[in-house]
Amino acid sequence: MKALATAATDVVKTKAFVKITAIALLSLTVFFIVNYFYSNSYIPLPFFSSSSSFAFSPSSNSTSPATATSPPPRPPPPPPPPEVQRMGIVDENGAMSEDFEVGEFDPTFLEDLSNLSARGERVANGGGRDRIKVEKYKLCELSMTDYIPCLDNMEEIKRLNSTEKGEKYERHCPGEGRSLNCLVPRPHGYKLRIPWPKSRDEVWFSNVPHTRLVEDKGGQNWIAIKKDKFNFPGGGTQFIHGADKYLNQISEMVPDIDFGHKTRVALDVGCGVASFGAFLMQWNVTTLSIAPKDVHENQIQFALERGVPAMVAVFATRRLMYPSQAFDLIHCSRCRINWTRDDGILLLEVNRLLRAGGYFVWAAQPVYKHEESLQEQWKEMEDLTTRICWELVKKEGYIAIWRKPLNNSCYLNRDTGVKPPLCDSNDDPDNVWYEDLRACISRLPENGYGANVTAWPARLQYPPDRLQTVKIDASISRKEIFKAESKYWEDIIDGYIRAYHWKELSFRNVMDMRAGFGGFAAALQDLQYDCWVMNVVPVSGFNTLPVIYDRGLIGVTHDWCEPFDTYPRTYDLLHAAGLFSVEQKRCNISTIMLEMDRMLRPGGRVYIRDSVTLMGELQEIANALGWVPALHDTGEGPYASWKILMCDKRL
Ligand SMILES: *[C@@H]1O[C@H](CO)[C@@H](O)[C@H](O)[C@H]1NC(C)=O
Ligand SMILES: *[C@@H]1O[C@H](CO)[C@@H](O)[C@H](O)[C@H]1NC(C)=O
Ligand SMILES: *[C@@H]1O[C@H](CO)[C@@H](O)[C@H](O)[C@H]1NC(C)=O
Ligand SMILES: *[C@@H]1O[C@H](CO)[C@@H](O)[C@H](O)[C@H]1NC(C)=O
Ligand SMILES: *[C@@H]1O[C@H](CO)[C@@H](O)[C@H](O)[C@H]1NC(C)=O
Ligand SMILES: *[C@@H]1O[C@H](CO)[C@@H](O)[C@H](O)[C@H]1NC(C)=O
Ligand SMILES: *[C@@H]1O[C@H](CO)[C@@H](O)[C@H](O)[C@H]1NC(C)=O
Ligand SMILES: *[C@@H]1O[C@H](CO)[C@@H](O)[C@H](O)[C@H]1NC(C)=O
Repeated sequence: MKALATAATDVVKTKAFVKITAIALLSLTVFFIVNYFYSNSYIPLPFFSSSSSFAFSPSSNSTSPATATSPPPRPPPPPPPPEVQRMGIVDENGAMSEDFEVGEFDPTFLEDLSNLSARGERVANGGGRDRIKVEKYKLCELSMTDYIPCLDNMEEIKRLNSTEKGEKYERHCPGEGRSLNCLVPRPHGYKLRIPWPKSRDEVWFSNVPHTRLVEDKGGQNWIAIKKDKFNFPGGGTQFIHGADKYLNQISEMVPDIDFGHKTRVALDVGCGVASFGAFLMQWNVTTLSIAPKDVHENQIQFALERGVPAMVAVFATRRLMYPSQAFDLIHCSRCRINWTRDDGILLLEVNRLLRAGGYFVWAAQPVYKHEESLQEQWKEMEDLTTRICWELVKKEGYIAIWRKPLNNSCYLNRDTGVKPPLCDSNDDPDNVWYEDLRACISRLPENGYGANVTAWPARLQYPPDRLQTVKIDASISRKEIFKAESKYWEDIIDGYIRAYHWKELSFRNVMDMRAGFGGFAAALQDLQYDCWVMNVVPVSGFNTLPVIYDRGLIGVTHDWCEPFDTYPRTYDLLHAAGLFSVEQKRCNISTIMLEMDRMLRPGGRVYIRDSVTLMGELQEIANALGWVPALHDTGEGPYASWKILMCDKRL
């Protein structure tokens, strides 16, 4: 347990701490024992434990000297929890705090779950001690400070036959053996980020040292340089008077949009520095801002440095990596996209992403300018939107707002031969991984799923209709799993926040690398932790993304065998629960860890909850990356089959 010792010496810095250590350890033990009882029953949910991962574990038949003689007996289960619901736990100051809720207890529920847990839970215990030696990784060339592997693959881009549709901004990942094998360097003079909410208005120049956007857009009141910082006055190409005025105008034009209640998740296309999303956040709306890595290349990097949800993505030839009916509102302000090209194939992608009854907000010159060419563009847009059954709800000034229908009846009642056609009924609109765009209208589900989500904030914990469409081979009801997952993470995050000082760490950009139903993000939201979470749903598992969006959270489909479409140094916390035990069968663990290092901001943290058999290797790689790892027990105690590896990427 060398790692535990390291962890301890990390914290033991002050004398005061030493004095309270005994009390702290004692109370933590009590906490873990109680938690053990609960989490024991919750652990075997399909997302965080995979029976096969233990069965196929290479060291499952090897017993290391430490455990060969006598594997330590599991502590006897504590007696059933008494009626008391409160437990003491040590707070940030090391004092005992009384207000720790363990939560309610439902014995019938436990029985239901015990069936799942029977499926080969803890086979491995004490394996994985065979240390694998990993050489320290070297720094890459300085020219690679903003390197995004799949978007900067020049060799592949040069080979493209066609570039007219924006193919060069799409993913072209380096092939086998050509993946990143060094640490992406930070720019000269990189500083610890300015904390949210201050970062909404200013970021360090040295962290994103690019003046191109200021030169191009400085006059539009977006962005300015002041001494050693960039300032964001909250303007934008179309909202010269500030984002707040603009948002007021939209909500007055169509009161049914109802920001923060009916409209919870928005998409901002071609977002500038994401001021739309940054300001809409105060209205309790989460906006995902997307833009390609093009000539204004650092838009998304600025957005993420500010602490606003953003990702590199492009409307070109492939589907975006978000599910159907994901966004309640999609916004495009002068986003320089030709929505009518190729039979409206790009607007049909917007239509797929838009929730039934959702709104498309278009702020652009053709809406209000009377020049002939612009008028023609407006006519084309009017014609296309009519054919795909969107209703023009309001046009005022430079803003036009359309609404998508609630069901298929309008599509089916069109004259025969009207283009674009409806998609095949066997086309799955949630199948997005490297899928080409289709020039057809995605059907809405006949049962109305997705059209009637609960209003925010109740939406966060309400099991949505589309839960029923997730293909899970579970013997208990999906609703129970959904609720159990929420409860499980709520308990864990509450513990993390208190025991590991998350409030002081003030994570802003958070990624859950294997999100399940989004319980981790929901818990952070519920506990009012001021951050946003990118919920990544790996292609190797069940597609739960529709459920995540229906809860009012954001996320994306991804395959961790490939790099992620974000700039280096953009996340403060990477959370990976049960990720490596699944993906190790598909790809190289060190490649995933290198990618994590690329995405992680200096000063950021990594929390890995996974099988103890993997911890030796993960720790070795973490050291090679220059992180400071520390191994901790889960709530199940020291002999559980899972552990938590916490890593610190120091500035
Ligand atoms: C695991 O078991 C297989 C077959 O039972 C055996 O060939 C192999 O050597 C064992 N591995 C170790 C590390 O003991
Ligand atoms: C447990 O699983 C078995 C078969 O898989 C089933 O017959 C039984 O009803 C299940 N029990 C519960 C409580 O779900
Ligand atoms: C380019 O076109 C050639 C011939 O049509 C084809 O074989 C090749 O696969 C294409 N390359 C790409 C990258 O699409
Ligand atoms: C946003 O949500 C919080 C918590 O639910 C609430 O207190 C606040 O009033 C909401 N703000 C707006 C503008 O609706
Ligand atoms: C958009 O594409 C259509 C069809 O390709 C073309 O007629 C139109 O001129 C384009 N509009 C703009 C603004 O480029
Ligand atoms: C379909 O939606 C329209 C509104 O878009 C509504 O008027 C109509 O009643 C709905 N039809 C059915 C069958 O639900
Ligand atoms: C929408 O959902 C609510 C409950 O969330 C339900 O009461 C209502 O009947 C639903 N409406 C439709 C049209 O399905
Ligand atoms: C995984 O990738 C690293 C380089 O990132 C390489 O050194 C190692 O050999 C690879 N491991 C396997 C099992 O392919």
